[in-house]
Parts: sequence; structure tokens; C-alpha cells
Amino acid sequence: MKKIYLGLLGFGNVGSGVVKILRARQSLLRKKLGCDLVLKKVCDKDLVSKRAVCLSRDILISDANQILNDPQIDIVIELIGGIHPAKEYVMQALNKGKYVVTAHKALLAEHGKEIFDLAKEHGKMIYFEASVGAGIPIIRSLKEGLAADRFSRIFGILNGTSNFVLTSMSERKVNFSQALAQAQKYGFAERKPSLDIQGIDSLHKLIVLVYLCFGKLVNLNDIFVDGIEHISLLDVIYGEELGYQIKLLAIAQKEGHELELRVHPTLIPVEHLLAQVKGINNAIYVSSDLAGDLLFFGPGAGSAAAASGVISDLQNAALDLQAGLFRRKIFPIEDNSIKRLRQIDQTQSRYYIRFMVVDRPGVLAAISGILAKFDISIASVTQKERKRAKVVPIVMIVHEVMEKNLRMALKRIERLDVVKQRPVAIRIEQI
Ligand SMILES: NC(=O)c1ccc[n+]([C@@H]2O[C@H](COP(=O)([O-])OP(=O)(O)OC[C@H]3O[C@@H](n4cnc5c(N)ncnc54)[C@H](OP(=O)(O)O)[C@@H]3O)[C@@H](O)[C@H]2O)c1
Repeated sequence: MKKIYLGLLGFGNVGSGVVKILRARQSLLRKKLGCDLVLKKVCDKDLVSKRAVCLSRDILISDANQILNDPQIDIVIELIGGIHPAKEYVMQALNKGKYVVTAHKALLAEHGKEIFDLAKEHGKMIYFEASVGAGIPIIRSLKEGLAADRFSRIFGILNGTSNFVLTSMSERKVNFSQALAQAQKYGFAERKPSLDIQGIDSLHKLIVLVYLCFGKLVNLNDIFVDGIEHISLLDVIYGEELGYQIKLLAIAQKEGHELELRVHPTLIPVEHLLAQVKGINNAIYVSSDLAGDLLFFGPGAGSAAAASGVISDLQNAALDLQAGLFRRKIFPIEDNSIKRLRQIDQTQSRYYIRFMVVDRPGVLAAISGILAKFDISIASVTQKERKRAKVVPIVMIVHEVMEKNLRMALKRIERLDVVKQRPVAIRIEQI
């Protein structure tokens, strides 16, 4: 039986999951592929730490060149994370004529153009199923399943850590730091969780999804991003009282000739399916003209889930390789009807706003007067905890407003001497 040789870079969480599956499902994969996937070398910086699976000394190495320069290795699996040297390894593998499988959304978001151009130049494919949603087959679905569809919108919960933290705040009524500490304790957040909680990981994944849906690799500095670290328990509770859950959403939507891209915490109605997505789960909504509205849901992280996505890429790469499809073109086609990105200032949304104010007559009138000047109309208003404190929250929902107007109004309101904290404003998504 034909053998296809694999070289794995990174024997960490996902890498060890891949090794486990290749061993445990060897005969299943052989039957499906009609070939043997042979793991020839595994490279990691750390050859000492105990892993979820054991490897013999002749397979586990510390020099990546032994994989990249080995002419027998057909497919390089990159699972080391970090931009450097992952980028150089991927480029080197492509230059050596190898197929590449990676789960690295940050690398694709930041250097996708160079990498995809090089893959095209060499007539090779790069496979990246696990880069978004771990084992949820969203990449394959966008690339191949929805072959002739035109997309108008893709949005969802793309980061398991943030979703775990927000779920914990809602269910256990703990503050952000307590919820994050719990996520770290359970291994759902890294010791340095900034990429996750600041929305950067969701941003990277959004860029990958936008590339697949609209054929554009957008610069990450051109996308508005806001994380969850400033979300307070008060807003989680008040949001729930009003019938909403807070979720970190990544949103791409096409309107006319404009593409609107943003990542931020969002209030969504409790009855919406996305509000039911809890813990480390991810969910992605896709609106397309032919298939309609689709929802993809499942665990967005974890060794087995991510390794499942990597194995599906290996299957595809092995089949392509056997068929000799060196020029298979499943690169996204650019949607030329999109002429520009919509600036965040120009986006419109309903808003939840919380003001912390001195409990004194006339305060509400002062705030609503400024809102009216900026054409912002109030849908509902509640004054909380009167009698108990001198500084009290006023919670408002406002009708759809242009972001620019809201920011100017809030700046003006913040300057009132009765307003004691910077107002909190969270978008309410119409989904
Ligand atoms: N974990 C998930 O659930 C998940 C899901 C989807 C996608 N991904 C992506 O999958 C990739 C791997 O994630 P992971 O969670 O498996 O990370 P991980 O557990 O940190 O594993 C990475 C491994 O690669 C090693 N490494 C780092 N730099 C290296 C180098 N220059 N040469 C050789 N080995 C090197 C690391 O060693 P040290 O620990 O000594 O640095 C570590 O053992 C990342 O791109 C991540 O974004 C992860």
C-alpha cells in the first residue's frame, strides 16, 4: 500500500492529539484513504516533558530542518504557534514542494497573503481546518460545501475562553477576574490570556472566515476590535433583566458595496440560539444566497477537537496528493462588488448604556437632553438601586444610532459633574 510521510512540528496540546488519533484510527484512515499515513518525525523544542502519548527517540527530534529538508516527507503539519519561526517553517515547507497543514489562525491572519501566494506559486495547497472552531468543519464548508454561494453575512462566537468567562459571570454571578481565574484553573484560559480576552483571537479567526467568504485578506489594523475585560457583572445582570445575554461576537456583513467587520461584546436576546452557546463552545452563523442561513456549533478548543480538524486536512491532503492534484484551485475568489470597508464610526446599532450618576433631580433630564442633541432616541430607561447609594446606575436602551453620534454624546455626558464614571455602552445586535 502507498505510504504518505508526515512531519509534525509541535508536540503540544494539539500535536499530541494528532499523534494519538493517527495511531488509534490508523486502520480506519487506511481504509478511507487507500494509503498509509506514516508519521516519520515529530519536532518539539522540549524533548523531556511528559506528553499525553509516548514517542520513540528516533521519531521525536528537536531540529525542524530534519523534517523540512527530508525529501521523503510529503506533508508538514505546523502546530507550534507563535508567528516566528512558524512562518519561516511554513514558507520553507512550501518552497520544498510539501503540502502544509496548520491550525495557526494568527499566522494566516497576519501573513496569509505571502503564504497563500507562495502556495499558489508552487501549485500546492495549504490546509487549515482547525484554525477556526477547532473540529467544527467550517473551513471545508465555506470552501467546498458552499461552492457557488454568495455570502452576505458571517458572524458568531469564535473564542472559547471568552465565552467560558462570560458564561461563568452569568451563571455564577462572579466578576470578570473571578471568572477568568476559574477558566485558568480548568485549563480553558492561558496564563497570559490577553489574545483571547482582548478579542484578538476572534479577530484572527474573522479574517480567515472573511477570506473564505469574500476572497479578501483584510489587514487586522483595519478592523474594529474590543474585548471583554471591561465587562462588569453589573452589566451582565442588568442585561439579563432586560432579556439579553452578553457574548463576544465577531461580525462580517456586506451591505451594498461595503463590508462591515467588527469584534466586540454584544447583547443578544436570550431567546436567540447564540445566547444558548455556553462555556468553551463556538457557534458560527453563515447567511448565503443559495443555502440560506446556516449555523455551525461545537467545542471551539481542545486537543481532540482541534486534532480532528487537523486529521480532516490530512485526509484531504493525502487524497489530493494521490490524485496528483498539484494545481487544484480552491482558493477563494475575490468579491469585486465590495469597494470598501465601512468605518466603525459609520456603523449603526442599538445600544445598552449604563451611567453612574448622583441621585439628584434633573440628572435624567440633563442626560436625555444631550442624547436628543445627537439625534439619539431612548427606547427604555431604568434607574437602579435608589435609596441604597448616593451614586446610582441609570440603564438605558437607545434606538439605532450612528456610532459617531453616540461617542460624541457620551463624551459630552461624561463631562457632567453628576456623572461619576465613564458611561458603559454595549451594542445590541439585531440578529
Ligand atoms: N489548543 C487548542 O485547542 C487549539 C485549537 C485550534 C487551533 N490551535 C492552534 O494550534 C497551534 C498549537 O496549539 P497548542 O495548543 O497545541 O499549543 P502548545 O500546547 O503550546 O503546543 C506547541 C508546542 O510546540 C512547541 N514549540 C514552540 N516553538 C517551537 C519551535 N520553534 N520548534 C519546535 N517546537 C516548538 C512548544 O514547546 P514549548 O511549550 O516549550 O514552547 C509546544 O510543545 C496554535 O497555532 C494554536 O493557535 C489550538
